[in-house]
Amino acid sequence: MPLTHTRDLFAKALKGKYALGAFNVNNMELIQAIVEACEEEKAPLILQISKGARQYANPVYLKKLIEAAVSVSNIPIAVHLDHGDTFELCKQCIDEGFTSVMIDASHEPFEKNVDICRKVVEYAHKHNCVVEGELGHLVGAQFDEGEEGGNYSTSGHYTHPEEAVKFVRESAVDSLAVAIGNSHGAYKFKGEQHLDLERLKSIKQALSDAGLGDYPLVLHGASSVPQDLVAIVNANGGKMPDAQGVPEADIEVARRIGCTKVNIDTDLRIAMTAGIRKAFMDNPKEFDPRKYMGPARTCVKELVRHKVRDVLCCAGHAFD
Ligand code: G3H
Ligand code: 13P
Ligand code: ZN
Repeated sequence: MPLTHTRDLFAKALKGKYALGAFNVNNMELIQAIVEACEEEKAPLILQISKGARQYANPVYLKKLIEAAVSVSNIPIAVHLDHGDTFELCKQCIDEGFTSVMIDASHEPFEKNVDICRKVVEYAHKHNCVVEGELGHLVGAQFDEGEEGGNYSTSGHYTHPEEAVKFVRESAVDSLAVAIGNSHGAYKFKGEQHLDLERLKSIKQALSDAGLGDYPLVLHGASSVPQDLVAIVNANGGKMPDAQGVPEADIEVARRIGCTKVNIDTDLRIAMTAGIRKAFMDNPKEFDPRKYMGPARTCVKELVRHKVRDVLCCAGHAFD
């Protein structure tokens, strides 16, 4: 079975009013865990690869691993470049057969962001690929001077609904990542904090009012940092004090408002770390990697099962 196009997954997700999980991958066990969970739950799937993942695993290995996953499973799988930072990187991925790419020029001024996105869109559309752009800056630990989890930035620039309309029209991107208080990593919030869901609603409404239809929005930084997994990490020699993610209820509302693609990486990392740490502590004499990578893979699989079934509601939609 070949890859399924991101465009087709988006069209069905918009129609069915569910969200697609876009899960970051960089090794075999992550790919196996995610694909097995989605296969068992009959969920359509986007596997996404960052520049760092390509550097870590080698693009050829990742491509072959995904080809293997596609051939042993029967669910629809799309492959997406996460946070492409240059036209050249996007072009490479388009030429390699990715079904979608993200060009992230959100740190640039509006007009430059538009120009860079438009250049990627022009190439992508000629080569059967679709493009995600980003407008606004994500807030949180990743923009801080100090270490992640140290100081929290409040200097994020939220996406403005009217600017979103102008941006989509001028850049012709196929989907838009928004900044509504979301951030990457395991230290997103302190205490009772939430995404700005009213703003999300306004962005979706503005795009619709402007004649752009049921336009697909993307939520980055959508990990919820499950506290049961953080507790396993901390109980087994880890140190993740005050780790906190987006409440799952916020993600569910975002899905209902119209976030069609929901990006999850940190939760996969925490699940894998919890599995490995626990296996090491339970069996200190063990040195066969299969004995700790195996349980870690199972932790990731159960996490993904929960996401697609209970949060994104894409389970059961693979063959719509
Ligand atoms: O948003 C970033 C993703 O979590 C990928 O992270 O650049 O460390 O691979 P990475
Ligand atoms: P998290 O760090 O919340 O998992 O976000 C991942 C992401 O946005 C990848 O692009
Ligand atoms: Zn992201």
